[in-house]
Amino acid sequence: MEPFAGGAIISLTAVAENYVDKSILIELDEDVASVWQTIIYDDANWLIHKILNVNLTQECVAEIIHNKTSGTRERAFATIIENRINRGGILAPGAGRVKNGENGRGMLSRWYPETLARRIQAISEMRNRLEFIQDDGIKIMENHLNAANIVFFTDPPYTQAGRRLYRHSQIDHHKLLSLTSQLKGESLVTYDNSREIVHIALENDLQVCWVPMKTTHHAQKLELLIGRNLEWLNPAETAPVPYVEAAPQTSSN
Ligand SMILES: C[S@@+](CC[C@H](N)C(=O)[O-])C[C@H]1O[C@@H](n2cnc3c(N)ncnc32)[C@H](O)[C@@H]1O
Repeated sequence: MEPFAGGAIISLTAVAENYVDKSILIELDEDVASVWQTIIYDDANWLIHKILNVNLTQECVAEIIHNKTSGTRERAFATIIENRINRGGILAPGAGRVKNGENGRGMLSRWYPETLARRIQAISEMRNRLEFIQDDGIKIMENHLNAANIVFFTDPPYTQAGRRLYRHSQIDHHKLLSLTSQLKGESLVTYDNSREIVHIALENDLQVCWVPMKTTHHAQKLELLIGRNLEWLNPAETAPVPYVEAAPQTSSN
């Protein structure tokens, strides 16, 4: 179960690689939800056809975005376009458009229709092993506290950058980590390197590790991995967070 699904790369990988039988994705954002609903429950081929045949001019983009409210499929198509033409793929209100982009291709600089079509096709081929729920991830976690056969991967909006990146970014971090400590199933939570989060995790008897990652701007930074038991992690790739006082200052991504 992935309670904050977004693009759900971990669930998709886990299903594709047969680490799990199926995955349940939960996402609150209506735009992101429309993409999952269209691929999993409606008609992925309609979406693929639209992506492969659109002529991405300014006028065409304006019309697609204007039509967004006419149905779930139309919203899904508009969301994919916005994700590709907005700077950093950001869908939150106020997100800016790519200006010059890669090789001066402007709006088209991150538009790779064949790649998108291939990925949507691959996801649709495993849709029988995917379930999607548009809801609050915390509420759904709470309903599955005793499900020992569910593995949870939780990647919530981060404390610093969340507001800029996502329409829904206000999370009760205390509740999320308290629920994580009560889950019967295995779980792994990722967070930005925030002192406050380390504090809350330790208060809930969770283990915390640092893991290096690269941001979209290729800068190296540390992220937190949190779980009831992290002993399975590769010690060459992670470092335990020994004391809350030792945590470096939080930086936004
Ligand atoms: C950090 S992103 C997840 C990215 C994901 N790991 C991926 O592979 O793309 C967090 C996601 O949680 C969603 N979200 C925010 N609040 C939520 C809530 N209460 N319930 C479910 N999803 C929520 C955001 O819209 C965003 O898509």
